[in-house]
Amino acid sequence: MTLDSIDIIDFKNIAEQHLTLSPGINCFVGDNGAGKTNILDAVHFLSLARSMHTLTDAQSIRHGQEAFLLDGRLHRDDTRPEQIVCSYTRRGGKVLKYNGKEYDKLSEHVGRVPIVVVSPADTALISDSAEERRRYLNRFISQIDRRYMNALIRYNAALQERNKLLKTSPAEEMLLIYDSMLEATADIIYEGRKSLVESLRPLVEEYYALLAEKRETIGIEYRSELQTAPLKELLLASRQRDIVNEHTCVGIHRDDMILNIGGYPLRKFGSEGQQKSFLIALKLAEYTLLAQHTEEKPILLLDDLFDKLDMRRVAQLLRLVAGDIFGQILITDCNKHRLESTLQEAGAEYKLFTIAEGAAL
Ligand SMILES: Nc1ncnc2c1ncn2[C@@H]1O[C@H](COP(=O)(O)OP(=O)(O)OP(=O)(O)O)[C@@H](O)[C@H]1O
Ligand SMILES: [Mg+2]
Repeated sequence: MTLDSIDIIDFKNIAEQHLTLSPGINCFVGDNGAGKTNILDAVHFLSLARSMHTLTDAQSIRHGQEAFLLDGRLHRDDTRPEQIVCSYTRRGGKVLKYNGKEYDKLSEHVGRVPIVVVSPADTALISDSAEERRRYLNRFISQIDRRYMNALIRYNAALQERNKLLKTSPAEEMLLIYDSMLEATADIIYEGRKSLVESLRPLVEEYYALLAEKRETIGIEYRSELQTAPLKELLLASRQRDIVNEHTCVGIHRDDMILNIGGYPLRKFGSEGQQKSFLIALKLAEYTLLAQHTEEKPILLLDDLFDKLDMRRVAQLLRLVAGDIFGQILITDCNKHRLESTLQEAGAEYKLFTIAEGAAL
């Protein structure tokens, strides 16, 4: 998938900007706060109809304005041209159009423009709660498996209702109805996560070894209560506890993904550079799986390229992504000289944009 050009109007600190992109590596350089990440976020918005940071849509409108508009011209790897327009107005909300036609549901767009982001915010995957890792898995699998996405929507709706019910003094029959709704979808989600982590593991290992140029053993494992018993049994066993706690204490909403390095938790025992390398390996593995499933090379966003990495690892990363497996790449860095010299060292072709105050110079 290649984004040929993007028009950005009143999105964050970007008033009006037209960018013509290279199908290969695009670099955005400029000072802190210039608007480099905002450009990447605009591309993310076109792909997934939301910001890559967890802001509300309204927060992406340029201060003092009423609306933002993003207009992307793309083409698939088989060269079909496409247009995606995403607008958000304070009054009317979000509208997403694909080749001029508005979507009935925004979820229909998910997966159409595959994208993978590497950003400093990824550390949340290591340090924050399991919820962050579940959200990651959900977003990832939803891009390749519609059945998973629909099961997840139904599971969450049933869970919400069940929890509401638990706050009243619920009748047995009512709980059983919700139990069966959860059971009907939990297996799809469980299987989806399980098989995804299985497919990810060898790829993460491979990319990590390439990046780190050494063989620290790394581990990535899926953890779910469903590994011990079917959800039906778990729910029955937890019935009294659920009533006392007034919420559902077992289920796939408590799953986790365990990340290890050298046999120990990455969070506690990995250095910052090791953690970052692990996260990049994870994202490159995600890229590879997305490419396989969608038969389309995703757009790769590398925000703040040098964040926590030494020059050697950055050069290694650039050599890797400049290769045939990867397609269009957007990179940001605040140091033009450092970025250009590392790209040249890696022997990569690139197009450079200098950004200042929300505009390309
Ligand atoms: N809704 C908004 N309206 C106007 N300006 C905004 C809005 N949201 C964010 N900004 C501004 O955008 C700027 C940040 O842009 P961005 O995060 O793209 O910087 P950057 O070039 O990536 O910097 P860094 O090198 O520090 O990562 C800030 O100055 C911020 O005030
Ligand atoms: Mg930034």
